[in-house]
Amino acid sequence: MENDWKTKLIKLLKENSDSSGLLHPEYMQLATLPSEGDKYPRNRTVAIRGFLNSGWEIDKNDLDTDLLVFSTDVESQKAKDISLRQAKSTPTGPMHNTFELCSWLPKTMQQVRLWGQIWFYTPDLAEKNEFPREDLLTSHLSRHKKRIPQEWSWEEERRRIWEHHSPTMRSSFANPVTYSNYQGEVPVVPLPVTLTGKEDAMVANRWETAWKRFGLVICDVQGVEFLDLNPPPGKRVIYEKSLESGEWSQERVSA
Ligand SMILES: Cc1cc2nc3c(=O)[nH]c(=O)nc-3n(C[C@H](O)[C@H](O)[C@H](O)COP(=O)(O)O)c2cc1C
Repeated sequence: MENDWKTKLIKLLKENSDSSGLLHPEYMQLATLPSEGDKYPRNRTVAIRGFLNSGWEIDKNDLDTDLLVFSTDVESQKAKDISLRQAKSTPTGPMHNTFELCSWLPKTMQQVRLWGQIWFYTPDLAEKNEFPREDLLTSHLSRHKKRIPQEWSWEEERRRIWEHHSPTMRSSFANPVTYSNYQGEVPVVPLPVTLTGKEDAMVANRWETAWKRFGLVICDVQGVEFLDLNPPPGKRVIYEKSLESGEWSQERVSA
């Protein structure tokens, strides 16, 4: 029951991918609140990389959390919006940093929504104590009387996700910042995981820029809704986490 929504989510993502690799059910729409003073809510597609430390292989995970991860550019608007809001929030409240993820899965005719608190990690934010590197994890692990494994760190996690990006995706973190003035096409320079010292200066510079701008977004899931449209009249199930006890409960409501 505890992990039921996670196994359900992973099953649903597997069922909705295909062998051609063209379907990507892990691409979801992320809604966040804008920075104060901005009129509109923000919504965009992101590529969820799975759960902290394990991706979509939660069985092999010794860090059992409700934390989903994706990458974003430090210079992006969402990085700014999220980090401003997290400065006024903590993992147990106040919660100015809320999100909702939503995805429509056409193969199985299901919609999934996930909501909770959202956090942005960079080594700089952690250094300045503007990212709750311990509190965010302990609120998950203490329930199972587990500790943060000694070999694990947020910086290791950033590296793990970086390694899982394609060389071209890694390179995109050195591109002109989203929404800056268009100044012509930029070259695609695939970037390695690490520098060997034999790369030419252009590749080495690009690599340094990309690694510096590579940040992690952490979605602390506190609620999940599965809507099955097939068979009619449909089925809607909500999972919610009690913020006091950390226990998950499940309820079927009208579709
Ligand atoms: C299929 C797809 C996947 C995307 N994945 C990500 C992602 O994982 N992280 C990200 O920051 N932007 C991703 N983007 C780009 C965002 O949708 C968005 O355009 C960009 O991040 C700027 O958003 P912002 O102004 O809200 O920061 C993706 C776009 C598409 C179409």
